[in-house]
Formats: sequence, C-alpha cells, structure tokens
Amino acid sequence: MSAWESIAVYPGSFDPITLGHMDIAKRAALIFPRVIVAVSEAKHKPCVFSLGERLYFVQEALSGIPNIEVSSFGGLLTDFVKRVGAKAIIRGLRAVSDFEYEFKMAWMNRRLSPETETIFLIPSEEFAYLSSSLVKEIAAMGGDVSSMVPEVVAKKLRKPSV
Ligand code: PNS
Repeated sequence: MSAWESIAVYPGSFDPITLGHMDIAKRAALIFPRVIVAVSEAKHKPCVFSLGERLYFVQEALSGIPNIEVSSFGGLLTDFVKRVGAKAIIRGLRAVSDFEYEFKMAWMNRRLSPETETIFLIPSEEFAYLSSSLVKEIAAMGGDVSSMVPEVVAKKLRKPSV
C-alpha cells in the first residue's frame, strides 16, 4: 500500500487551532482516505490552553469532515504514527521562515522512522502569515481574531480571562 492510500497523521500543538491549520487538515483529507489530527500533549512547551481545551477546539472545528479523526498523543510522534498504522506525517509550510524548523523535524523523524514520509502542504495564501502565537498576542491586546480562528476559539478568546 502506498503512503497515499494509508492513514496520514497531522500533528501539532494547536494552541489554539487556526483557520490555517483547518485549511491544511482539509487539504490532507482530500488526498488521504483517513487523517488523524494529533494534538501533542506538549509537555516540553508551555501552552496557553490545556490539552483538553486544545482537543475540544480541534474536534469542534473539524467535526464536519467524515475522514478526519482527532486524537491526543504524548511521547515521540513517530511512535504514535506507527501505533496507528499511518505512513505519512502532514505538516503545513507557510513562509520561508518555517523551512529550517520543519526540515530539522522531518529529517529527525525520518531517522527515527525511515518508512514514514513527511508531506508538506501549503495553505491558502490568506493564511500565509497566520500563526497561533500571533493570534494569542492579538487577542491578549483586545484585537479581533474572528477572521483567523474557528468560532469556538474566537468565543473563548473574547473572554477577558485569556
Ligand atoms: O505545532 P507545533 O508546535 O509546531 O508542533 C510540533 C510537534 C508537536 C509536531 C512536535 O513538537 C512533535 O512532534 N512533538 C512530539 C515529540 C517528538 O516526536 N519530538 C521529536 C520531533 S523531531
């Protein structure tokens, strides 16, 4: 079975999920028969949203797409990929600034699991400069992020506690 016929894992911190992430997940779902969006426990990285919140946002945002499932994972991504029987890792590439980080990660994942292919997808141009960190910064200063994130996240970010 080729990678295209198998399961693809789209991993990330999704802190929080943005319209850019959704664009990539939808593109992956048009290519692969089954896509698992894998929300990292991100123990190494401080997140604004808890794992439960991040999972909920991703589930709500992508609930309408029948071949997308949502799961959390801890430990090595390549172990999760093997456990679910996937052959491909999906990552989104925006600007050139993403390349170094993404290439390092893809090469390291290939060393850990040579049979897993990392496949990069490019989001729609309107999301090229969108990132979770910018969304959080704008929201923290009272800016309107409703055109950048799904409604479930926008609603949460409008609350003054975040
Ligand atoms: O959205 P992010 O924060 O860029 O996603 C990074 C993520 C979660 C995909 C990456 O940190 C990851 O794969 N973490 C799991 C631990 C792991 O496998 N680390 C080695 C990666 S080379």
